[in-house]
Amino acid sequence: MQLIDGKAVAAQIKQEIAAEVEQIVAAGGKRPHLAAILVGHDGGSETYVANKVKACEVCGFKSTLIRFEADVTEAELLNKVEELNQDADVDGFIVQLPLPKHISEQKVIEAIDYRKDVDGFHPINVGRLNIGLPCYVSATPNGILELLSRYQIETSGKKCVVLGRSNIVGKPMAALMMRKAQPGDATVTVCHSHSKDLVKECQEADIIIAAIGRPNFVTADMVKEGAVIIDVGTTRVPDATKKSGFRLNGDVKFDEVAPKCSFITPVPGGVGPMTIVSLMKNTLLAGKKAIYD
Ligand code: GUN
Repeated sequence: MQLIDGKAVAAQIKQEIAAEVEQIVAAGGKRPHLAAILVGHDGGSETYVANKVKACEVCGFKSTLIRFEADVTEAELLNKVEELNQDADVDGFIVQLPLPKHISEQKVIEAIDYRKDVDGFHPINVGRLNIGLPCYVSATPNGILELLSRYQIETSGKKCVVLGRSNIVGKPMAALMMRKAQPGDATVTVCHSHSKDLVKECQEADIIIAAIGRPNFVTADMVKEGAVIIDVGTTRVPDATKKSGFRLNGDVKFDEVAPKCSFITPVPGGVGPMTIVSLMKNTLLAGKKAIYD
């Protein structure tokens, strides 16, 4: 069994990005600039956005954090999105999700100029991903692809089960794994809360990508000997021994599943750090105008 060290890979990629940024700046180019909009004070969102700002520093990017209270109106938020669309200094930006209930997330996402949509959530980027055109790929699936690639895990012709069908992870992950590409070329099955034979599907899988947000859902009996397990779960569970009062729990019952695997990602330290690095890669692409100009 080999542990997939997302934390180490992420640190290495950030150094690669930082080196490229210094080259760009030394050659008279512009330092990439990421802006992030954070609405309200959700604990998870606060942490994610703080980590994104920190990662920008490590990569040598400029970053701008724009905060609104949870009672911001949809119109005010849309105005800010439009302002960032027009701001030539901002290469890419994100609106941290979830948003308060009185604001339509879809409306906000569609208001973002797709050429600055480094989250890859705009329908144009989603559509382009699905037909194999260059686009911003959403961060978590892209981070997983990077791990599969760097660990030289064969995906061609393999049976890949994706657990979960969210717009952010499950759906784009399935699209990427079935792409005519490396990593890719897999036979993909997407399972969700209404799937009948979820356990059987998992038992037959060479690769399981678990993104359903149910702690310890994937147990040893569901996993084939030698399978590759990618755990996207990051559910906060109370833990009195932690300073924060909680710990992150994956979708996979790690202790019993790990001995059966060829490769497995831990939680934390697996997929999580790669998600932020993927956003940094998209920001670098945005700065270079590599996908859209
Ligand atoms: N909320 C959870 N994941 C993400 C993400 O990747 N981007 C944004 N903007 N919000 C999120």
